[in-house]
Amino acid sequence: MDQKIDQIKKEIKCFHIKTYNDLETFRIKFLGKKRGILTILFKELKKISIHKRKIYGKIINELKKEVQKKIFYYKSKNDNEKILKYDPTLPGKSIEIGSIHPLSMIKNRIIDIFLKIGFSYVDGPEIEDDWHNFTALNIPIFHPSRDMQDTFFLCQSPDILLRTHTSSIQIRYMKKHRPPFRVLSIGKVYRNETISSRSNFMFHQAEGFYIDKKVSFSDLKQTIHYLITSLFGKEKIRFRPSYFPFTEPSAEVDIYCNREWLEIMGCGMIDPEVLKNVDIDPEIYSGFAFGVGIERLALMIYQMKDIRIYFDNDIRFLRQFKNEF
Ligand code: PHE
Repeated sequence: MDQKIDQIKKEIKCFHIKTYNDLETFRIKFLGKKRGILTILFKELKKISIHKRKIYGKIINELKKEVQKKIFYYKSKNDNEKILKYDPTLPGKSIEIGSIHPLSMIKNRIIDIFLKIGFSYVDGPEIEDDWHNFTALNIPIFHPSRDMQDTFFLCQSPDILLRTHTSSIQIRYMKKHRPPFRVLSIGKVYRNETISSRSNFMFHQAEGFYIDKKVSFSDLKQTIHYLITSLFGKEKIRFRPSYFPFTEPSAEVDIYCNREWLEIMGCGMIDPEVLKNVDIDPEIYSGFAFGVGIERLALMIYQMKDIRIYFDNDIRFLRQFKNEF
């Protein structure tokens, strides 16, 4: 037996491996399931005494490890050679480059437009409480305008809701800062609305507000004109008297598009009651605010008829914006 083992040891060492086929022959010769030299030896172990079985079992196991080591060595060598054979001059697989979502592009454009006239950009939470979204904006619990802005409430805690507009940012910011300030915020808002070509349960709004001594309605009009001309060049817009509980006077702005007027924003002078709610003296300060729907602007900018396309995530649609600014 000892002689046999020495012989096998030598054979393992001296077996010449050059190709992948040699490697396979080597493996089969020693570890092949039926006729592998070591496999047969393992089987023969059963025939000898327990005492000897232990000694030879250990030795044969070590031979098996030798074989596996050699296989491993040649396998990794072969892999490395494959890497060396790799030709770096061949064209690589191209990586798909994504594009900025069209709504984000408009958002970035609006931010640029307002940074130029001294506005700062702030963010706010989409999950709001009743006070910031309604009550502090002069919309008490019984107010009918709450019906128009029905949203998603948490069953366990009805005080918590998904904001219905970005006007809640006005409250958050004014509570913490003292005027004068010019602020812009853009984000998602939520309403319990049927999905259609012009409305969705979620859309984006840009909110701007400016508070200082002697801010007037003409400042508001001029700012809106500046926004619209920066976005569209020359465009026809009109201010229509309207009502919001948190602005007085209030207006809605329509833009003339495809031979019809399209409503794009609400605006007005911030109501003195709102200023009082955040401890700003309305006798000293006044301000304006506006809220504009980004999807509505997008319909005009990209000449589309249906806002649902912005949320479909259809790659064929999104790819078209690759080369835009
Ligand atoms: N928050 C109003 C809305 O979502 C828009 C608005 C903002 C109106 C600011 C006036 C001032 O309908």
